[in-house]
Amino acid sequence: MTAGQAEFGSLQIAIDGPAGAGKSTVSRKLAESLGYLYIDTGAMYRAATWLARKNHLDYSDAEGIARLASQTDIVLKPADESSEGRIRVFVDGEEVTKAIRTREITEWTSPVSALGPLRAVLVKKQQQLASNGSAVLDGRDIGTVVLPNAGLKIFLTASPEVRARRCLIDLEKQGETAVFDELLKAINERDHRDCTREVSPLTKSADAVEVSTDNLSVDEVVERLMDLVKSRLKANKQASGQPVQA
Ligand code: DC
Repeated sequence: MTAGQAEFGSLQIAIDGPAGAGKSTVSRKLAESLGYLYIDTGAMYRAATWLARKNHLDYSDAEGIARLASQTDIVLKPADESSEGRIRVFVDGEEVTKAIRTREITEWTSPVSALGPLRAVLVKKQQQLASNGSAVLDGRDIGTVVLPNAGLKIFLTASPEVRARRCLIDLEKQGETAVFDELLKAINERDHRDCTREVSPLTKSADAVEVSTDNLSVDEVVERLMDLVKSRLKANKQASGQPVQA
């Protein structure tokens, strides 16, 4: 049993939503507060895209990309000072933490992540990683496909303008230059592709709680999610007849 399981109990938490809604930062902090495992599934799709590009595979080769991903170790490790708060990502031992966050990989990941055979490979890996039961997963299809029975499902949203502003700040931190209007256009296009693709489109699960992050700081969002987690765990305990502290 992990320290988090001992203190809080066990729960699979699914956090979905569009790019720039703040999912990664909030999910990582929530997982840290709970002592749970954090799985950034977007980083896995980015790593698979980086791998495909390195091997000169185009996204028309869906089977080739899926085969390559299934034969490769994609490993996520906790953030440290070197990764500026992002989880660290390794592809067959090579660190790609920064390489998967460039604008080029971001643009390529959208069509690559729409490939059904690749999704089948990565969804299976994600389900295996989450199988110990105390995990926070963030992505687009966690509540609908990866963990349809998750104990708590959150759908994080924010307006396209707020999300474009956050992307701009992220890119500038990495030393890239970007224009707000172009980022806004790219976000709207990516949203459209992610929401209308055939395989696992971004949709809010019927049983997800929607939280808008527009006017909230990261810590305020984490606090709100912590309250939701605590009340869900309390309800689960009551339902199973265990004593609940007032
Ligand atoms: O969350 P992110 O921006 O790092 O995600 C990168 C891309 O991967 C984005 O285009 C959406 C896609 N993605 C997905 O299709 N399914 C997931 N579970 C996570 C991300």
